Amino acid sequence: MSFGVSMLKPAANNPAIRPQLTDALIASVHTKRAQALALLQSAAAEFPAITFANSYGAEDMVLTDLISKENLPIEIFSLDTGRLPAETYTLMGEVEQTYVIKPLVFFPKHEAVESYVRTQGINAFYESIDLRKACCHMRKVEPLQRALANKQAWITGMRAEQAATRASLPVREFDAGNKLEKFNPLSDWTEKEVWAYIRLFEVPYNALHEQFYPSIGCAPCTRAVAMGEDIRAGRWWWENPDSKECGLHVKK
Ligand code: ADX
Ligand code: SF4
Repeated sequence: MSFGVSMLKPAANNPAIRPQLTDALIASVHTKRAQALALLQSAAAEFPAITFANSYGAEDMVLTDLISKENLPIEIFSLDTGRLPAETYTLMGEVEQTYVIKPLVFFPKHEAVESYVRTQGINAFYESIDLRKACCHMRKVEPLQRALANKQAWITGMRAEQAATRASLPVREFDAGNKLEKFNPLSDWTEKEVWAYIRLFEVPYNALHEQFYPSIGCAPCTRAVAMGEDIRAGRWWWENPDSKECGLHVKK
């Protein structure tokens, strides 16, 4: 089976990432920033071994900016699957130059990747949901387990309105799968608030967002969305929306 990355490649300059900065929007960003900061401060005080999972998407750049500018005692890590888009690596470099806190990068185990590619093929994740999940497992889930080893809590940039699977996302929950506390400080943020934050605080962001990629994962499994389409429609677009999670955020 063959899946072109995007046959309908739209022009750049996505208006959704340049919301009109009305007084009401600016006020709500400042209020939500203060709430997120208070949550992060209390989480770090309660769980000194705390880490933030940064995928370099827009939401995660908000949290990277907040954690770094406020000098919070929170580690930042990133999972480099080996299949990320070139634009994400460019942003990783910009983050290294811009912020004091340097994200720790975790890679998949090379034995697992070599075995999968030799037996299944380089792009086998398109062939079945099982092969897709196996790829996500070796490239994301297993490295995540190493990133979370010896931690008491972790932080994500997930928002409730991103997906059917996230509709009732709390700001704090117990992650039974990984056996530690999990914080989602941006759970109730809107996409507009995320972008208003990025504009107001001059946060670097992934150039793919200009090309109508609201949600960015690995290059072969992410494509642009059409205007009005669901935020995660471009992720594993060949699968049912109810099952579109890579295994990082499953509930046990
Ligand atoms: S995914 O689980 O389907 O890939 P999504 O891209 O929406 O999820 O990201 C949700 C959250 O998972 C991010 O805000 C981030 O906290 C974490 N995350 C996802 N991908 C990565 C990654 N490559 N490295 C670190 N954290 C990640
Ligand atoms: Fe593999 Fe695609 Fe999952 Fe990335 S998103 S780990 S390439 S299946």
